[in-house]
Amino acid sequence: MTDPQRVRVAVIGVGHLGKNHARCLKELPNAELVAVCDNNEKTRSAIAERFHVEPCDDFKKLKGRVDAATVVVPTRYHYDVASWLIENGIHVLVEKPMAYTVDECHKLTELAKKHKRILQVGHIERFNPALTSIRNAINTAAFIEADRLSPYPFRSTDVGVVMDVMIHDLDIILSIVRSEVVDIQAVATPVLSKKFEDICSVRLTFKNGCVANITASRISDKYVRKMRIFCADRYLNLDFAAKQAWIYSKTPKLDEANFNVDNVDISKIDDLMQFVFNDLIRVEQVVIGEEEPLKAELKHFLRSVQTGERPQVGGEEGLAAIQLAHEILKKARDHYTKHVPEEHRRW
Ligand SMILES: NC(=O)c1ccc[n+]([C@@H]2O[C@H](COP(=O)([O-])OP(=O)(O)OC[C@H]3O[C@@H](n4cnc5c(N)ncnc54)[C@H](O)[C@@H]3O)[C@@H](O)[C@H]2O)c1
Repeated sequence: MTDPQRVRVAVIGVGHLGKNHARCLKELPNAELVAVCDNNEKTRSAIAERFHVEPCDDFKKLKGRVDAATVVVPTRYHYDVASWLIENGIHVLVEKPMAYTVDECHKLTELAKKHKRILQVGHIERFNPALTSIRNAINTAAFIEADRLSPYPFRSTDVGVVMDVMIHDLDIILSIVRSEVVDIQAVATPVLSKKFEDICSVRLTFKNGCVANITASRISDKYVRKMRIFCADRYLNLDFAAKQAWIYSKTPKLDEANFNVDNVDISKIDDLMQFVFNDLIRVEQVVIGEEEPLKAELKHFLRSVQTGERPQVGGEEGLAAIQLAHEILKKARDHYTKHVPEEHRRW
């Protein structure tokens, strides 16, 4: 008998990330992990055995047996799998990037509306405590810097670094700035890949004046996931990898009528750093919750399925990030074509 308190769910694609979806869903009390589905026999059997669930060789066999599914197959299959699920009455969380093309994202969003199904996109960093803990402290952002660097992954190479990696920061920045992008400057180049860009640097200007500089690389010897958000009266420093965040804000001393930073006699100050980052600017390391971002994201999805509430990152948000990613790629490609002689071009 099915338990009305639990969402019957399956994971489709249990490779590198999908097996973690299965683990989290197995641990969440309001989920009943019915099956794990994968084209690869060895992969599905191993994960099914590990989590004591049914292995499934074809996601179409899930019809009528699950209320919801998470789609964790390579990006090139997102649209086909997610659209079939929605059309067959199944709520969907599709991993990021939502799909390959803007058109596919549009269609998925419309299908979800038509069939009244929840469609959530797996922009996991929205659930990273580094962001959730400081989100309320962000007032109007004036300038944002984001760096997302890692070594070559040898996975997710059916897309370039913009769709695979930068898409996280595009989604976060769009959710923070909430203004139209009016100018894009972008450079990108392949290094190891023969088909896609491996590094990209972008400068976005928004209608409200905010500027965002974003760099993504998958050919770095470092692993970095950082964002700095400068607002009028504070600066927020986020480290998504370490799950840490700091808020730097002006102290009331700066507004005292008799205080002028240009008149400070530094010969009377023993520790200048302490003076700046204590007396003038308050530095607060934010207390961060323990919850794993993937678990928080899946919990949010299950709640939307149970309540019918719109998810925080729905089809519209997934589509907006893909649309911007395509515009960035177009600008970057135009720049590449204009400046790299034809005989040296690899992109
Ligand atoms: N949110 C994040 O931070 C994040 C991180 C990693 C990956 N991803 C996304 O997750 C997706 C999967 O990435 P991955 O690294 O786990 O890839 P992966 O190659 O490790 O796993 C994909 C799995 O899907 C299976 N598969 C392929 N087609 C299938 C089909 N039609 N039906 C059933 N199974 C099928 C493959 O056999 C494989 O086991 C990608 O879209 C990627 O962008 C997101």
